[in-house]
Amino acid sequence: MAEELDNCSDNYTASQHEWSEANSQNSKAQRIDYISQPVSELEGQLKVMGDKSISHRALLLGSLAQGKTRIHNCLMAKDILATVQVLQQLGIEIEQEDNCITILGNGKQGYKTPKETLDFGNSGTSLRLMTSILAGQGIASRLIGDESLSLRPMARIIKPLIAMGARIQAAENDTPPLMVHPIAVTKPIDYRLPMASAQVKSALLLAGLYTKGVTLITEPLPTRDHTERMLRCFGVELGSQSGKISLYGEQELKSTELYIPADLSSAAFFIVGACISKHACLTLRQVGINPSRLGIIHLLRRMGAKLQLHNISWFNNEPIADITVQASELTAISVNADEVALAVDELPIFCIAAACAMGKTKITGATELRYKESDRIKAMVTGLTNLGIKAEEISDGLTIEGGSLQGGVVDSVGDHRIAMAFSMAAAAATQAIRVLNCANVATSLPNFMKLANQIGFNILSVSEEAAMISASTI
Ligand code: S3P
Repeated sequence: MAEELDNCSDNYTASQHEWSEANSQNSKAQRIDYISQPVSELEGQLKVMGDKSISHRALLLGSLAQGKTRIHNCLMAKDILATVQVLQQLGIEIEQEDNCITILGNGKQGYKTPKETLDFGNSGTSLRLMTSILAGQGIASRLIGDESLSLRPMARIIKPLIAMGARIQAAENDTPPLMVHPIAVTKPIDYRLPMASAQVKSALLLAGLYTKGVTLITEPLPTRDHTERMLRCFGVELGSQSGKISLYGEQELKSTELYIPADLSSAAFFIVGACISKHACLTLRQVGINPSRLGIIHLLRRMGAKLQLHNISWFNNEPIADITVQASELTAISVNADEVALAVDELPIFCIAAACAMGKTKITGATELRYKESDRIKAMVTGLTNLGIKAEEISDGLTIEGGSLQGGVVDSVGDHRIAMAFSMAAAAATQAIRVLNCANVATSLPNFMKLANQIGFNILSVSEEAAMISASTI
């Protein structure tokens, strides 16, 4: 572990810079487009930033433990900044030194009633998990998000939390703003999730900590289990077997020291970029390879991708590995609901792989993609069609016929993962791709462009004013 921490010290300055960059982007809501030129050769080693899901959980659980929790390699991006700022509004002390965050928890009941509205920006994970902790402590609060988050469904957490004794109101269609009333949850719940969702599972487990008795959650399909693993790091006991998770309430959390693996969801962009390019050999270092996140690796291997996992070890309860990937000949596959649940955030970049594969790929059981930062089924089909690929929406997914990616203009509709996916498509495209509305890349990977260009991409970012001038060039 010590050696791994040392290895990361060369990232410190960059991360600190990126943290303030994310911070400053928070206050300027300016439009940014990416112009990604065709490239044919990718090479090098990359370490992408810390895992977003795990960073959120580390901050939230650290805020509920008594004493100091140190989080190394915490993601420095806008979504995490939203969690940090909300925690500070709730009276939690947080310090940042280089890319290590120290959080001074006040125990499970330690939040103060906030004076102002809590703004979660673009971050669904922060808002959903935090709603449940606020309901657990009975903290009166008003929670809002940006335009995209204000459209996302919240009934999935509100309904079961109300059954546990909370009082929460939402806007029309059960979307934010949410009002949490000062009535704490009391009753444990025995609940079968109506959809495969790690956010809902995690929210209910966190609320369960505040009840007397056993909260029992049944998952229709396995989803990421970072909350379960991290609760154990904080000394909380819970059972997990055959899709049922049980947690006894009234347990206290013990502060700890954590190291966050590199984010596989961020690494996936570069992995697919390398697969679809003509010549590539790329290594992604210290990437989280939790089995509940590995769907993208299995899907790409099924398509024929040349991928190797090596140097396998552990950070806390999470497995990590270096991933080496080479340019590959891909073949179309069919993807079902079980596989979607294990690759839910990687489907946009998977669609780019499918566009470069031989044959027709069909993805089903993916309705949840319509409720992400954008309707990702629609955004991918529209963008791929603009680039000359035959793609069609079906009610619970999409079909993509592999072909030749042309250049052109696609709209990311402000969704970070759509923006990064289409930027990578230039590794196989015949001409430049202009991706509109990329500012939200800062929510999960603020140094995306820098990393991409480091391995051979040629991506340029243009701001709104420059966008006008350069509009005629592509
Ligand atoms: C997340 C769970 C997933 C994922 C999101 C992060 C988490 O959402 O899409 O980016 O950290 O628990 P759902 O639970 O809505 O599937």
